[in-house]
Amino acid sequence: MSPEEKTVDRTVRVLVPEYRQEPLEHLYADLQFPEILHRPYLYLNMVATLDGAAHLMGRTKGMGGEADRLAFRRLREYCDIVLVGAGTVRAERYGPPRLDAEAQVRRRRRGLEPLPRLAVVSARLHLDPALQLFSDPDRRPLVITTEDADPARRGALEAVAEVVACGRGTVDLPSALRWLRTRGARWVLCEGGPTLNGKLLAAGLVDELFLTLAPLLAGGGAGRIVAGGSLAPVRLHLRELREHQGELLARYTVIP
Ligand SMILES: NC(=O)c1ccc[n+]([C@@H]2O[C@H](COP(=O)([O-])OP(=O)(O)OC[C@H]3O[C@@H](n4cnc5c(N)ncnc54)[C@H](OP(=O)(O)O)[C@@H]3O)[C@@H](O)[C@H]2O)c1
Repeated sequence: MSPEEKTVDRTVRVLVPEYRQEPLEHLYADLQFPEILHRPYLYLNMVATLDGAAHLMGRTKGMGGEADRLAFRRLREYCDIVLVGAGTVRAERYGPPRLDAEAQVRRRRRGLEPLPRLAVVSARLHLDPALQLFSDPDRRPLVITTEDADPARRGALEAVAEVVACGRGTVDLPSALRWLRTRGARWVLCEGGPTLNGKLLAAGLVDELFLTLAPLLAGGGAGRIVAGGSLAPVRLHLRELREHQGELLARYTVIP
């Protein structure tokens, strides 16, 4: 280990909009997201390696460093709903979203519930009701599925979650988001994965992307952060860029 690696680096270099240094603890500590009327404002948070891999051997574990892990927690402080696809729930072994007591106080000050609610998108409902994410009866997640989903699977999940149907065959994401808005959700954080991201982007439902570029090369056949059929190129504006220990943390706005 080199001497530099032994020193704890608690400083983040802000490269865009202008160079400055800030304590690591300031990372995404004071974000403001707009409120829109017809659907929730939706921001994505993803991590990728330098060669574009969205996972290492099927999971994101080991990709992000300290700043990425802090960003992951901080971005959960601004949303009503954490939205994920069923593939991510299965691969990443999701539990109910957790935040420390101070983060919960900050959420309350912003007019949010102390903790965000988890919403899982799934057509096939291959989700075991014994999964950890269904373990807290006081914080039942939402499962967003289709009208023609398997009735037995749906019935089993209704014991541990609120199940809502939007669309047939595949979840109609614009309707699902409109429905969430009618239920009071102003801000949705989507934590992936790539299939869900692709569908949200194709439907024009993504407003921002927070992307951590980890200083790693993965090789192999790992998928990218957006999957699915071809997408008309989505253009983004680089709004902020930070560096911490070689990790680049970018905030992009989708150009409508
Ligand atoms: N790099 C990162 O930041 C990051 C973040 C998250 C995940 N990942 C990685 O991504 C991989 C998983 O990829 P993935 O593409 O399978 O994840 P995913 O998008 O979370 O899951 C795909 C599944 O979500 C459901 N789904 C998504 N959109 C739907 C729609 N419109 N209608 C109905 N169902 C819909 C389907 O579930 P059913 O099959 O149940 O119908 C589909 O099979 C894992 O290796 C994970 O580690 C990486």
